[in-house]
Amino acid sequence: MSTTEIKNSLEQDKTVNQKQTTSTEFEQKQQSTSFVSQFESSKPTKKEKSSTVKISAEDVHVYYGESEAIKGIDLKVYENEVIAFIGPSGCGKSTFLRTLNRMNDTIDICRVTGKVTLDNQDIYDPNLDVVLLRAQVGMVFQKPNPFPKSIFENVAYGPKLHGLARDKYDLEEIVENSLRKAGLWEEVKDRLNQPGTGLSGGQQQRLCIARTIAVSPEVILMDEPCSALDPIATAKVEELISELSTQYTIAIVTHSMQQAARVSDRTAYFHLGDLIEVNSTEKVFTQPDHQLTEAYITGRFG
Ligand SMILES: Nc1ncnc2c1ncn2[C@@H]1O[C@H](COP(=O)(O)OP(=O)(O)OP(=O)(O)O)[C@@H](O)[C@H]1O
Ligand SMILES: [Mg+2]
Repeated sequence: MSTTEIKNSLEQDKTVNQKQTTSTEFEQKQQSTSFVSQFESSKPTKKEKSSTVKISAEDVHVYYGESEAIKGIDLKVYENEVIAFIGPSGCGKSTFLRTLNRMNDTIDICRVTGKVTLDNQDIYDPNLDVVLLRAQVGMVFQKPNPFPKSIFENVAYGPKLHGLARDKYDLEEIVENSLRKAGLWEEVKDRLNQPGTGLSGGQQQRLCIARTIAVSPEVILMDEPCSALDPIATAKVEELISELSTQYTIAIVTHSMQQAARVSDRTAYFHLGDLIEVNSTEKVFTQPDHQLTEAYITGRFG
């Protein structure tokens, strides 16, 4: 499909959607339908919404060689919100997430245009310290990737690199606090010198979250952090996301609608490199604005 064809199909969808939203039948269906079970009963009110923009993306395009993977996205992420990125495989969720801490810089053929700011500072400014940026905007990947080091050293690595600890005791405190925040301390406190790679998958993922937290980030990007985990480990990580959201801004990519519904305040739906809609998670899963979103969340494609 060419870009023009896709654009046309999106335009058609918009028209269809507009037509549908004016029809009484559709409105009635929308009012009575909740596509994700969490919203069948009303959700408890979450934390206060912040109106402070933490990250702003303006007209962001991403190219891999000649191919355009992100086609001009505008998005604001607010302080202390959890925003979920959903959409079919290949629609650009990971690519867009990586633009938020310049992780795409590590891919040779990748080119990013447009503007991304963190606290109103342009993160693509050539004078910006990218290592520092990636500490401020940390990332947790799909597959847990502990360093081939001890549990302690995995968490201590970042604080040492950035000179965050005054002395050995301070470093130990940072490590303990980070492991506590990641809900892992009780499970590992007696084996801090053992290799991080010796932990279970779920524990390794929480270790990676502890490693991210240890450098005091402001934003945490998570790319399908639970896709390699069993339901119990997933529940632990989700609980953790909710706890962390009081202190950090979190953007999470997920293929699980239930997970997006459980953990996020807002949800952004991506389709073929476009951002189709972003709304409160409850709205996206009960009364989506766009027909493409509805088709995806009801499982008609994806
Ligand atoms: N390193 C790369 N080199 C070339 N093309 C890439 C690269 N990474 C991603 N792409 C392409 O960019 C597009 C978006 O990919 P991306 O990985 O961002 O999608 P996604 O929404 O995260 O998919 P998934 O849900 O499968 O993880 C796809 O067409 C993909 O083939
Ligand atoms: Mg991806």
